[in-house]
Amino acid sequence: MAKPDLMERVVNLCKRRGLVFPSSEIYGGFRSTWDYGPLGVLLKRNVKDAWWRTMVQLRDDVVGLDTAILMHPRVWEASGHVQAFTDPLVDCRNCKERFRADHLPESGACPNCGAKGSFTEARQFHLMFKTNVGPVEDEGSVAYLRPETAQGIFVNFLNVQTTTRKKPPFGIAQIGKAFRNEITPGNFIFRTREFEVMEMEYFVPPEDGAKWYEYWCQERLRWFVDLGIPEDELRLRPHDAEELSHYSAGTSDVEYLYPWGWGELEGIANRTDYDLTRHAEYSGQDLSYYDQETDRRYVPHVIEPALGADRCMLAFLLAAYHEEEVRGEKRTLLRLDPRLAPITIAVLPLSRNERLNPVANEVADLLRPRFMIDVDDAGSIGRRYRRQDEVGTPLCVTVDFDTLDDRAVTVRDRDSMTQERVAIDKLVDHVQEQLPT
Ligand code: GAP
Repeated sequence: MAKPDLMERVVNLCKRRGLVFPSSEIYGGFRSTWDYGPLGVLLKRNVKDAWWRTMVQLRDDVVGLDTAILMHPRVWEASGHVQAFTDPLVDCRNCKERFRADHLPESGACPNCGAKGSFTEARQFHLMFKTNVGPVEDEGSVAYLRPETAQGIFVNFLNVQTTTRKKPPFGIAQIGKAFRNEITPGNFIFRTREFEVMEMEYFVPPEDGAKWYEYWCQERLRWFVDLGIPEDELRLRPHDAEELSHYSAGTSDVEYLYPWGWGELEGIANRTDYDLTRHAEYSGQDLSYYDQETDRRYVPHVIEPALGADRCMLAFLLAAYHEEEVRGEKRTLLRLDPRLAPITIAVLPLSRNERLNPVANEVADLLRPRFMIDVDDAGSIGRRYRRQDEVGTPLCVTVDFDTLDDRAVTVRDRDSMTQERVAIDKLVDHVQEQLPT
C-alpha cells in the first residue's frame, strides 16, 4: 500500500470505529486537538500501561509521580522555558499562512501556495500557553500550562529521594498532559497542542551520564520492537549541535518511518545537572545528593527518555494496519500486540437466539473480570469477525449450538484465523496461555 494511503486509511478507521474523533466536531472541529472514543481510550490506556509496566513496575530503580499541571511561574524561569522555549516562525507574504522555519522544504517554496521567496524573516514564537490564576488578570497572576511533565519531577527530586531513600542511579516516572502552542499542528495525532507525555528522569552520578544515556537509548528502542514495531521502521538519530535543546549535552531521537518519512517518535536526552542546578539557584534549596558510602556530595546528572502517548499510539496503529485478501474478499486488520489491543476477547453467539444468549452471557461473565471483552451478536458471524479484526481484537470466542451439548466454544485467532474448540471450564487458562504478559 502506498504510504500516503496508509495514513488516510488509519485516520478513517479511527473515525469510523470510534478510536479518535476531531475535537469539538459539531462546531466544525478545532484542528489542533482530538478526542479519544470508546476504543481509542482503551488503546491509549494500554499504551500508557505498557510504558508504566516497563519503566516502573518491572524495575526496582524507578518510582512514579503525578504532579500538577499548573506550577509556580518561577519553575519555568528556572527551567529556561520562559526565555528559550520558542520555535522560529515565518509568514508567507503571498497566502498569509504561517510555518515553522525549520520545517520548510529545501526548495524554499511555500508548502501551501507554492510561491518562491515569499517568506518573511523568521521571528521567535513562544510555545507556552499563558493563563491567569485567581480573580485578577495582571502580570502578577500569570501562570503557564506545563509544556512538559519533567519539571514537576525536578522540583520534587528531594521529596521523592528522601521519602523513598533511593540512591542514584534511580528514576522518577510520570505520565500526564502537556500543552504547547505549536505553530503547525498536524498529521492527525502526531503534533497537537494538547497531548500526553510519558517521561522518566533518571538521576545518576555525574561520571556515569554517558553510560546511562547509551543504556536508555537501547532500552527504549527495544521497547517499541517488543510491542510490534518492525525494526526496519525504527532508527536512532543523534541530534547535531545546532539542534540540541538549551538543557542538553546530547539527545537522540528514536525515529519512526511515518507515511511522510522519518520523524521523531521519542527523545532521549542527557540533561546533565542543568535542571537541578537551575532549580537550586532559583529556589535557594540545596538539591544535591550526599553519598554516604563515598562521603561525596554531588548534583546528579539526568538522562531523560520522553515519549508522547498520542504519537506513540499513532505509530502502533500505522505499524499494525494491514489489508489482505481472504477468499476473494478484502480483510482489514490491526495486528496490534494483544497487550495494546483495545478489546482482548470478543464473545460472539453464532446467532441472536434465546438458547444461545444465556451461555454467551455466562462465557462473558467468566472472562470479564480478567480481560477487556466485547459481546457482539449483531449481523452474520463472518461480518462480526471482520469487525473485530479491524480493531485488532486478538481472540474471538464463538458460542454455537454444539456448545449447548458439549459445553465447549470455538476460539479464533485474529492473525492466522485458525479455530480451536475449547471447553468452557478450561477457557480462562487457555486464553491466558495465548496472550503475552
Ligand atoms: N521533557 C522533554 C521533552 O518534552 P520533547 O522531545 O519536546 O521532550 C517529548 O517531547 C515527546 O513528546 C516527543 O518525542 C513526542 O513523542 C511528544 N511530543 C512533543 N510535542 C508533541 C506535540 N505537539 N504533539 C504530540 N506529541 C508531542
